[in-house]
Amino acid sequence: MRIVLAPMEGLLDFALRDTLTRVRWPADAAPAQGVALPHPSGLDHCVAEFIRISDRVLPPRSFVRVMPELLNGGYTASGVPVRGQLLGSDPEMMAANAQRLAALGSHGVDLNFGCPAQVVNRHGGGASLLKEPDRVYAVAHAVRQAVPSKVLVSAKMRLGFDDDRLAEDCALALVAAGVAEIVVHARTKAHGYRPPAYWARVADLRAVIPAHIPVIVNGEIWCDADARRAQAASGCRDVMLGRGMVADPGLALAIRAHLEQKSHQAPTLKEKIAIPQQGLEIVGSRVSACQPAHLDALALPPAVLPWAEVLTLLPGFWQWVTQRVERRHRAGRLKQWLNLLRRRYPEAQVAFDGLRLSNDHRLVEAWLHAQVEHSDEERGLDFKTQHMKTHGT
Ligand SMILES: Cc1cc2nc3c(=O)[nH]c(=O)nc-3n(C[C@H](O)[C@H](O)[C@H](O)COP(=O)(O)O)c2cc1C
Repeated sequence: MRIVLAPMEGLLDFALRDTLTRVRWPADAAPAQGVALPHPSGLDHCVAEFIRISDRVLPPRSFVRVMPELLNGGYTASGVPVRGQLLGSDPEMMAANAQRLAALGSHGVDLNFGCPAQVVNRHGGGASLLKEPDRVYAVAHAVRQAVPSKVLVSAKMRLGFDDDRLAEDCALALVAAGVAEIVVHARTKAHGYRPPAYWARVADLRAVIPAHIPVIVNGEIWCDADARRAQAASGCRDVMLGRGMVADPGLALAIRAHLEQKSHQAPTLKEKIAIPQQGLEIVGSRVSACQPAHLDALALPPAVLPWAEVLTLLPGFWQWVTQRVERRHRAGRLKQWLNLLRRRYPEAQVAFDGLRLSNDHRLVEAWLHAQVEHSDEERGLDFKTQHMKTHGT
């Protein structure tokens, strides 16, 4: 199986990508033994957040701003390949920018057919393209024709815009255009990010997409049991992790340890029973027939990395934030991460409650110093040493 780190504009960007791909099993963690990992973080590759394409070919610096890994051969500092993602609706412009992205060293070119943002959809990009499979084809075909054949072109789609009636047509349009891999975020644009994710609907797409084209299931995977349920319901081997990995940075490792040790067992009866049922979300839409993911985050098992390990990731993350983010937005960046971490860590909840009302980056930094110094006292490391250790400077 492959595990892919999702693109998340404004949340899972370069700083967090760098941080999450540095995650390792704690040295004494038993599940790590005997599990084959593509990379110590458990991840196979990352997709960077979208680069918006309108009416011109962007200069290289615009690509590098979103994806600084291009300056490192397209790899994160810890060696995970990163694929750039383009969002736009003009086939010609998408093709020309894809050429540039490929030439800059991206590990493939990913096309966004899922963004729900109004401003993007108003201009005919993102999820709104799913209303017109012909336009999906036109964009993907132009890009496929434009970039060298050795460069992989992939796509990330939702099930549809208002409903999922055109999901198969859109998937087949991507296939006809020559796309080599398709991620399906198992929701329509109308669903936003609300649970459940309709993993079983991905199985319908898997059934019409030729078997040699990998389909990657995405949406609402918060723990290793979710990954197994998503695999079983969708018929996909590969998974993409978004918020689940931000909330639990050891999630990819947990999934690998569990799945590979258990050789892809189907969910147990107990796990199947644990999947709650959910009524119709869209009248007349086939998604109503799907098995939803579980809805109750509180029912999740404990996160796999101890909080002390998560704390070791924070100085490196903060260093990137201070280098790359305007002062007034810095506190917000850490709070955003804490906001998801608190789903899995009570300590993050306490921190979030303490920092929630502050937008002062100095207060956030003071909190960070206190946390990390306290945690490092036993290890004999101070905050500065931790920075240097993390960044190798
Ligand atoms: C804040 C945020 C930003 C996102 N940005 C992107 C993006 O740039 N490109 C993209 O294809 N999907 C984007 N997504 C969608 C995610 O990649 C993913 O499909 C979605 O969050 C469902 O997966 P999850 O339930 O594991 O989080 C974004 C989602 C969120 C919450």
